[in-house]
Order: sequence, then C-alpha cells, then structure tokens
Amino acid sequence: MRLFTTVAALRCYLKLYQKRNQSPDETDNPSVSIGLVPTMGALHWGHLSLIARAKKENDLVIVSIFVNPLQFAPTEDYQSYPRTLERDRLLCQQSGVDAIFAPEAQELGVNEQLSSRTQVVPPSSMTSVLCGKTRLGHFQGVATIVTQLFNIVQPNKAYFGQKDAQQVAIIRRLVKDLNFSVKIVTCPTVRETSGLAKSSRNQYLTPVQIEQAAVLNRSLQQAKLAFQAGERDRQVLEAIVNKELATVECVAVEYVELVEPDTLMPLEKIEDRGLLAISVRVGSARLIDNVLLKVRSPIVAIDGPAGAGKSTVARLVAAELGLVYLDTGAMYRALTFLVLQSGISVDDERAIAQVVSNCSIQLSSSTDDLDYPVRVWINGEEVTQVIRSAEVTANVSAIASQKAVRSALLQQQQSWGLKGGLVAEGRDIGTHVFPNAELKVFLTASVSERARRRQQDFQTQGQVEITLEQLEQTIQERDRADSTRELAPLQKAPDAIELCTDGLSINQVINKIISLYHEVVI
Ligand code: PAJ
Repeated sequence: MRLFTTVAALRCYLKLYQKRNQSPDETDNPSVSIGLVPTMGALHWGHLSLIARAKKENDLVIVSIFVNPLQFAPTEDYQSYPRTLERDRLLCQQSGVDAIFAPEAQELGVNEQLSSRTQVVPPSSMTSVLCGKTRLGHFQGVATIVTQLFNIVQPNKAYFGQKDAQQVAIIRRLVKDLNFSVKIVTCPTVRETSGLAKSSRNQYLTPVQIEQAAVLNRSLQQAKLAFQAGERDRQVLEAIVNKELATVECVAVEYVELVEPDTLMPLEKIEDRGLLAISVRVGSARLIDNVLLKVRSPIVAIDGPAGAGKSTVARLVAAELGLVYLDTGAMYRALTFLVLQSGISVDDERAIAQVVSNCSIQLSSSTDDLDYPVRVWINGEEVTQVIRSAEVTANVSAIASQKAVRSALLQQQQSWGLKGGLVAEGRDIGTHVFPNAELKVFLTASVSERARRRQQDFQTQGQVEITLEQLEQTIQERDRADSTRELAPLQKAPDAIELCTDGLSINQVINKIISLYHEVVI
C-alpha cells in the first residue's frame, strides 16, 4: 500500500497505474476503475464498510484522510479532532486499500484566507437546514474539499455513509449540478450492538454516555415502527422521537426533523419517502443519526437480451427475496383471456382498447405450487390456469403487439410499482417502466454462450438439432431487432449493473443479484 501526501505524487501514481493496466485498444479510455473513499481519518468500522464496498467494485481503491479545516466553524473541534494516521494506515493496509492520500492543509490550499480562495457553494435550501442551521459554512467546506478530491483522484465511484444523510444529499446534488462523472454510492450506517451509530466523535463519550447515546437509534426505530403501522404525519413521527429522547436526561436535542431525502425540504406528510433526522448533544459530543422511511418496497429491474435467462433469474430472485415476480408474460395472457372472454375479435383494436383500459390485474407469488409459481387474477377472477390454455397461447402475441394493450399493461405495471416489492424483467424495465428501481441489472451472455444454452435446451426437449452457427446467427439478428425496434427497444440504463452470465451457474447469478440487492437497499 502506498501513502501520498502531495497531489503531484498521487497523480503520477494514478497515471502510471492506468498506463500499466490499459489494454492497447483503449488508449483514450482507461480500463481500470477507481473507487474513492473520502474520510477525515480516525477510522472505524463505518469507514471500513465503505472501503470494503469500494474494494468489491473497483480495481483500485484510494482512501483520502484529511481533517478539513474548511468544514469546521471556529468554535468546533478542528484542533482536537482525533488524528490517528499510523493506526489508520494499518487498518487501510489490512483492508486491501491501494493508496492513502493524506495531504497537509497547505497542499490543498485550505489554510489560505477564505476570502481569497474559490469555494463551492451548494444550494442554501440544502445547507441551511438540519445540521446547517448551527454549522454555518460546514457544507460549503465539505462540497469544496470533495470537489477537490474528485478532481485530483477522478474516481469512477465515490463512497459515502448514510449516517451523514445531509452530506450525501448535498454531494449527489453537487455531482448532478456540476456534471461530475463520478457515481456516488451510499452505504448503510454501521452501528454498535446497542444501535449507536459508529462515529469518530464517539471517542469523546464516557462509557456511561455511550450507553445513554443508544437512545438516538432507539427513538428512530420507534418512529419507524409507527411508520410501518401506517403513521405518515410529521408532527406525530417527530413527537415519538422527542418523547423517547426525553427519557435520557443528559441528551440535549438540537433538532428532530422530517425532510424529503433528496431535496431536504421539510415534509408535512410522507407520500413516498421521508428522512427522519436527529442531532443531539451528549456531553461535549454532537451526535447525529437518521432513518429513511419508505412507503414503497424496493423494485429490482432486470433487462437484457433474449436468451440471457432473465425470466428464470427474475422468478428465482423474487422467491429468494420474498418479492413478487411481475410476470409480464402472464399479464399479457390475462389481458388476452379477458379479450377472448368478452367475445371481441382479436383484430378489433378499438374494442380491445376499451376492454383493457380499465381492467385490474393482480399477481401473487406462490412458493408451494411448482406448476404455477405466480397466481394471476383479472378483475377479481382467478385466471392462473385458464391463461395457459391453447386458445390464449394462440392469440397472445397478436394481442400483445397492439399499442393500447401495451399501454394498458404499462399502466398496470406502474401501478404495481407504486407499492414496489417486486422483480420485473424485460427490455426496458429499468429505462422506461421503473426508472426509479432501486436495483437495475443488465443481464447478458455472449452470443456463443446463449447459442450453446439454446442448443442444450433443444437437445433435452428432443427437438431437431440446429447447428451452433445457425443459432448464433438467429440470436445476433434477434439482438439487432430488439435494440432497434420502435416499441420498447432493448436499452441498458446508465445506472444498471451489467452482469455477464458466461461461465456462471444459475445459483451464482442469483447469489450475485441478491448480494447486490442487499448492498443497495439501505
Ligand atoms: P468522516 O466523518 O471521516 O466520514 C467519512 C465517511 O464515512 C462519510 O461518508 C461518512 O458518512 C462515513 N461514515 C461515518 N460513520 C459511519 C457509519 N457509522 N456507518 C457508515 N458510514 C459512516 O464525512 C466526512 O468524514 C467528511 O465530511 C468528508 C466527506 C471526508 C469531507 O471532508
């Protein structure tokens, strides 16, 4: 592991590393991915969880350790902030960090007169609320230093903790507004067994205070329970937290607030998501914590080319995570059943549009019926088995290709999306149907691998042999048609994680998606 204290030395190292690992045809496009974990040192398990995640997702991991004077007010603990570089160095080494960047203040120019240096000013609507009310200039200092670090390291991904929810929201906004090409990854809060969020500032607490400080998380968990029981109102949720905090005498509350998690605007009532954030003083330490309250359960979107195994994977992932598999094929079949039942001709698009526009489809995953893993209802009638009839099979593609049917289905899918808790697969799920899905996976396999699998399927079904070359050609043509079609073309969402299944067993693919799910769902 290397340690750099100057910008020039770090840049030189990064340049050399990239040069050494570049493949010859990628001269302009570095093939190594860099993960940055910005910290102020005094590392603990919270920081180490960020590093572990960065290790998993990047070729090179850089940890910055810099106690940034710009983000401390004159009355705050800049001088006494714990500085433990030797210990941090050891922890980084044990965690597989490639390089530490630990500059002196003058190296980053942050000890100069503030009035004579450029600073990054995030929107005041985000910096003047919550911690910003008492920590004047703090988030401007954070935004400035993080901008410098992004420019110096130019990481592909940067890792931040949900514990500092206001900081992450501001950095996400900074990245969006200033077009940084870095992906911000938010990691869950790591806690002591008592529930107290790990923090470098916990060192300021006595053992008794550490015990007492567990009330922060306890109060938030009580509000979460009320939320889960249906409570959405700001005043009630905040009162629950305040009441619990008041049970511990030495806790002086600075704020308890419910805000919108991205904009940090105050929320009167949670419609979709709310961030319940608190700050208290215990002795000389200022402690913060928060909980994200989500009405909607997560959505997993799996897109990819035909033959990559999407539907099998989606069904198994849903079963494993206890989510509903949004079986689009079954939904089309249900609509076809409805049309056939109403006696309309399958090419009477107008009449079909009328029938499908106001229908309601329900799905539920059933783990005990292997023949019918998804049960289906349309307008209250269970149609799980009848939608598999030969008549429905013969007509489903004619009906599914109609515009009105597709838009009725999109509406159905999106109304499901409001509740969440589902896995959906297709070609445009992550880009079009559920652009807000928590986890987007782009499942692929090489053409030759898909041809090989297809041939195996044919063999087990005892069907006529088709050569691998023929199968490869058909697959290539299908890929081209799928990506260029006008209706729902195959697209990879920019924030989708590409998973190539070549050489992986189905279980390995499922396990990979499940571990990704646990990483993104905070
Ligand atoms: P620092 O307080 O050292 O935290 C570094 C990172 O670790 C932050 O992203 C923070 O949210 C995360 N972190 C801290 N405690 C955590 C916990 N218990 N669980 C998970 N993550 C946790 O935040 C800063 O430094 C600075 O403001 C910085 C971004 C480095 C800019 O100076």
